[in-house]
Amino acid sequence: MELPFAEPYRIKMVESIRCSTREQREQWIKDAGYNLFNLRSDQVFIDLLTDSGTGAMSDKQWSEMMLGDESYAGASSYYKLKAAIQDLLGFEYFLPTHQGRAAENVLFSVLVKAGDVVPGNSHFDTTKGHIEFRKAKAIDCTIDEAFNTTIEHPFKGNLDLNKLEDVLKNHPREQVSMVIVTITCNSSGGQPVSMANMKGVKELAGKYGVPVIFDSARFAENAYFIKTREEGQQDKNIREIVAEMFSYADGMTMSSKKDAIVNIGGFIALRDPELFRKASVFNIMFEGFLTYGGLAGRDLNAIAQGLYEATDFNYLKSRVGQVALLGQKLTGFGVPVQLPYGGHAIFIDASQVLSHIPKEHFRAQTLCVELYIEAGIRGVEIGAIMADRDPVTRETRYPTLELMRLAIPRRTYTNDHMNYVAVAMGNVYERRLQITSGYAIVEEAPIMRHFTVKLSKI
Ligand code: F0G
Repeated sequence: MELPFAEPYRIKMVESIRCSTREQREQWIKDAGYNLFNLRSDQVFIDLLTDSGTGAMSDKQWSEMMLGDESYAGASSYYKLKAAIQDLLGFEYFLPTHQGRAAENVLFSVLVKAGDVVPGNSHFDTTKGHIEFRKAKAIDCTIDEAFNTTIEHPFKGNLDLNKLEDVLKNHPREQVSMVIVTITCNSSGGQPVSMANMKGVKELAGKYGVPVIFDSARFAENAYFIKTREEGQQDKNIREIVAEMFSYADGMTMSSKKDAIVNIGGFIALRDPELFRKASVFNIMFEGFLTYGGLAGRDLNAIAQGLYEATDFNYLKSRVGQVALLGQKLTGFGVPVQLPYGGHAIFIDASQVLSHIPKEHFRAQTLCVELYIEAGIRGVEIGAIMADRDPVTRETRYPTLELMRLAIPRRTYTNDHMNYVAVAMGNVYERRLQITSGYAIVEEAPIMRHFTVKLSKI
């Protein structure tokens, strides 16, 4: 028999998680204003809110924490991470930041001004937030296939080069801040961008003199999909693929909380010394001195080690494989999930599950609440609440897809946990017609409302 694949690590430390009753959960979620962000973590049994900062660090990463150099300036930890970034990603210049959105804040302070447009593939919400906060506009150029959850396209994160060229052609050069390529594309379902597409974007943007910035939170998972799905890429190793991917970028922002497998951290990496010099000023102002950028030296060390671990093929195979395992089990129960399965999460099509509830009553949020009450599982809404209101008209922007995301932390849960999640969701799916009401907003923040919104049951 062919040997089955198994995780390339074993577990040295465990953390208890708390079980609860349905009655307790009904009370807790009500007290939380039906917003899962407001729950206490011990009110959750399996936490799939995010894969960000929730992964398990390795023994080597913990060892690196002990070796952190906490000097204010010129710490060896800074040089260790600088060397890892040069080695793996190929960028000469880098700025540490405390997380991904901080990298956006610093870089966009240089690149984005009022009235600008920023084309890209389904910008993540903090990315869009930082663009709109500066009175600029994010333009979505993702391929149309991405918005049909049932089409099996291998690279649903791809940009439509015709849509991109329309944006580039119809705006003066100085009005286009940059092109942002998000790898993998979180908002379109953890879907990868192909190498050919990255190359195409770079060529096109180059023709118009516009820089290309990769939002790289899940770059290693993207590389795994390129290796396993893209014609002509199978024989390259992950690190070769990663190096080629970034050769098509002028710079990158990184949330290290994902594919550097640490609990906090981020960075910007750049090629252009002039852009680096300008961004450095904002880094010092918002984050900290250039050699620590809001992080401890130990954090920089753990990120450097994590970048190497995340670009290991067997690690990626088990990681992406576990996500697919959950997807397969859900598909087996008839639950409509986005295909192909994403790299970090499974996205359930809430519009299909709860088609009998009006979209104005937030179908994906309703599904998240139901799954929590069913089994103590915390997912997250990627739908109309997160899409928020149009900055000009202040009307809710109903996105094409209403999704519930179940994001899997890295190296944290076992496949038995995945089975538990699948059965719980199967139960919710079976009783979907008994779910007869959704939610209304009682309180909301002016921007990025989903984090703090309060809801009431209709
Ligand atoms: N870009 C992408 C594609 C992301 O998914 C995230 C975070 C960020 C940027 C911002 O990074 O959180 O370190 O400030 N995504 C998390 C999520 C929050 O749950 O998907 P951050």
